[in-house]
Amino acid sequence: MATVLEAHGVGKRFLGVAALDGVSVGLRAGEVLAVVGENGAGKSTLMKILAGIYRPDSGEVLIDGHPVVLHDARDAMRRGIVLIHQELNLAEPLSVCANLFLGRERLRAGIFLDRGAMAAQGAQLLEKVGLKVPLHRRVADLPPGQRQLIEIARALAIDARVLILDEPTASLSLAESELLFATIRQLKTSGVAVLYISHRLAEVRELADRVSVLRDGRPAGELEGAGITHDNLVRHMVGREIQSLYDRKHRPAADAKPRLEVRGIRYAGGPAPPMSLSVRAGEVVGLGGLVGAGRTELVEALFGLRRIVAGELRIDGELFVPASPSDAISRGLLLAPEDRREHGLHLGNSVERNLSLPNLDRWSRAGLVDRPRVHREAATIVERLRIRLRSLRQPAGQLSGGNQQKIVFGKWLARGPRVFVLDEPTRGVDVGARGEIYALIDELAGAGVAVLMVTSDMEELLGLSDRILVMHEGRLTGELARPDFSEAAVMRLATGAC
Ligand SMILES: Nc1ncnc2c1ncn2[C@@H]1O[C@H](COP(=O)(O)OP(=O)(O)OP(=O)(O)O)[C@@H](O)[C@H]1O
Ligand SMILES: [Mg+2]
Repeated sequence: MATVLEAHGVGKRFLGVAALDGVSVGLRAGEVLAVVGENGAGKSTLMKILAGIYRPDSGEVLIDGHPVVLHDARDAMRRGIVLIHQELNLAEPLSVCANLFLGRERLRAGIFLDRGAMAAQGAQLLEKVGLKVPLHRRVADLPPGQRQLIEIARALAIDARVLILDEPTASLSLAESELLFATIRQLKTSGVAVLYISHRLAEVRELADRVSVLRDGRPAGELEGAGITHDNLVRHMVGREIQSLYDRKHRPAADAKPRLEVRGIRYAGGPAPPMSLSVRAGEVVGLGGLVGAGRTELVEALFGLRRIVAGELRIDGELFVPASPSDAISRGLLLAPEDRREHGLHLGNSVERNLSLPNLDRWSRAGLVDRPRVHREAATIVERLRIRLRSLRQPAGQLSGGNQQKIVFGKWLARGPRVFVLDEPTRGVDVGARGEIYALIDELAGAGVAVLMVTSDMEELLGLSDRILVMHEGRLTGELARPDFSEAAVMRLATGAC
């Protein structure tokens, strides 16, 4: 098959530091090429060069074997290259429909928006990606998983020759991912070249014809066909073996007391039937379900971001009404949210400031911030979570996606939570750092923290949880104890089948 898009020896520096150095990849029509590497390895930078968003400092981009200069994303799109960003890129105040057709609005008689045609095609596109939302809904009102599906639907509407997907499944659950994979396979057979980035190695194995590995901005090997195994991928990416990701050293004691008790609560924007659950000391309870099942709404209610209108909540047996996040925090209930850009991080602030903000009350003396201590504590967290950065003073927004996620997680660690609620804790996090985060969750559980973990990553849900709860369309549809864990059992509950 002919090579349609190629990067040849490309290099890119940011503020004098190399993000990419001498990287070459070639993408053939009708294949899926995966690009993998640790957080900060340069994957997104490479994709942005191929999609015309960045100009390389050295090397060149070739289309059909001819060197080209891509002026911007529009230029690339005109040549049939479409990138779906890792950080979503939608016009939030506009409707789903407007976003699907942005810049390519259908016209009637040349001037009138053809709403009928757009509605019909829009509905088809949403069905293709398995999204059930009204076309007139504002994008701003949708959770990240659903926004991701809109991005994908939008890309499908454009007849691309090359489709670049930068972690498209990071906030999708298994069912939505499967739909996407089916679509990718279909595109492949029609000759589209697909460049695919993911930290979920199972899907890389499932989808990729070839894999290109990046390490520290440099090429670190290519894998093909039967050579694409989990161990090979990890060894090339990380440069060392990682044995078992999900080893739990601690399990909750048989007589462990409930730390978080939720009895018959109802909350603003939540489902009609009241919701009950509990998490015991040292227990990791996984909360599974499809995108839009209402898991994020539930954890927002627990954290005081949604008004609770009925029922009661207890922490360590004491009644607790979470009226605001600071209420929740003062009671020891912490949330690492799903949407890090909205709730989790101040992108313009330094890493040190982000890590210290929720801890300043404890890192002060006589009402004054203890600067050396703040610096020391922040440095410890960075080291412990292996956050890749140049300096603690660097704005958080400059870090790679996975490293941003680690900061969201890290800033709460120092607070010593009683109940730790994690919404997609390893979204976009590389396999090495995942191991570190799982070890931390296990350590927290070992120290008696009650952990409630929302995750769309099936391996993580099955691997790490002591108990699994599943939600479907806003209600809890079931509970699985460890011996009954299986992908099929979770899927049955998640899709509402009996
Ligand atoms: N706009 C920018 N300004 C400064 N540094 C940047 C910028 N964009 C990327 N970098 C740096 O370049 C390096 C590569 O980043 P990139 O986003 O390409 O990594 P990645 O492989 O996509 O990581 P992840 O898996 O976390 O998404 C990182 O060290 C990052 O901090
Ligand atoms: Mg990236």
